[in-house]
Amino acid sequence: MLDLDVVFGEGASVVLDIGFGGGEGLIEMAAARSDECIIGVEVHTPGVAKVIEAGEAGGWRHVRVVEGDALDFLPRLAPATLSGVRIWFPDPWLKRKQQHRRIVRPDVVRLLTDRLRVGGTLHVATDIAEYATHTERTVAGEPRLTGGLVPRPEWRPTTRFERRGHAEGRTATDLVYERIV
Ligand SMILES: C[S@@+](CC[C@H](N)C(=O)[O-])C[C@H]1O[C@@H](n2cnc3c(N)ncnc32)[C@H](O)[C@@H]1O
Repeated sequence: MLDLDVVFGEGASVVLDIGFGGGEGLIEMAAARSDECIIGVEVHTPGVAKVIEAGEAGGWRHVRVVEGDALDFLPRLAPATLSGVRIWFPDPWLKRKQQHRRIVRPDVVRLLTDRLRVGGTLHVATDIAEYATHTERTVAGEPRLTGGLVPRPEWRPTTRFERRGHAEGRTATDLVYERIV
């Protein structure tokens, strides 16, 4: 089990960024908030390399990167240790027979909620309207989380994925849920 007090120092506020892609969003957040520790998990090696390079260039001690599947990594985190989880523009897996691959699904939401502290937040952003509805429905099945649609936070970086969706006529939806018990 990973001890986040050892990794980042006691009492650190730690956010898990699942699927940070090319790393733009993570890098911007890390540069903007040195008091917020980030663990980024991504399967895509070039994105992992970008974040490591940025971290080395910036001398960051508040960012760690895991190259791999978030679902393999999550069990290594102790319960109730995260102050936030970000899932920004998850792969939508639109075809019915692929939907079981979605990261937002009941078993994963349960696992993520276990890892959030009370008061911690799960932030999902998507520009696929059906995925937003799917997220609302899925999270409704987790009684420890409360929340829903919020206006786009101005601090959330605009990544390539969001710009591309915008160019194709899609608008992002932000959903934020707080662990209440
Ligand atoms: C559409 S991209 C979004 C990237 C980034 N969050 C953004 O907003 O620009 C989704 C990313 O999630 C990653 N991903 C999907 N499932 C994952 C998993 N189980 N663990 C880690 N990364 C995952 C993919 O490799 C991909 O880079």
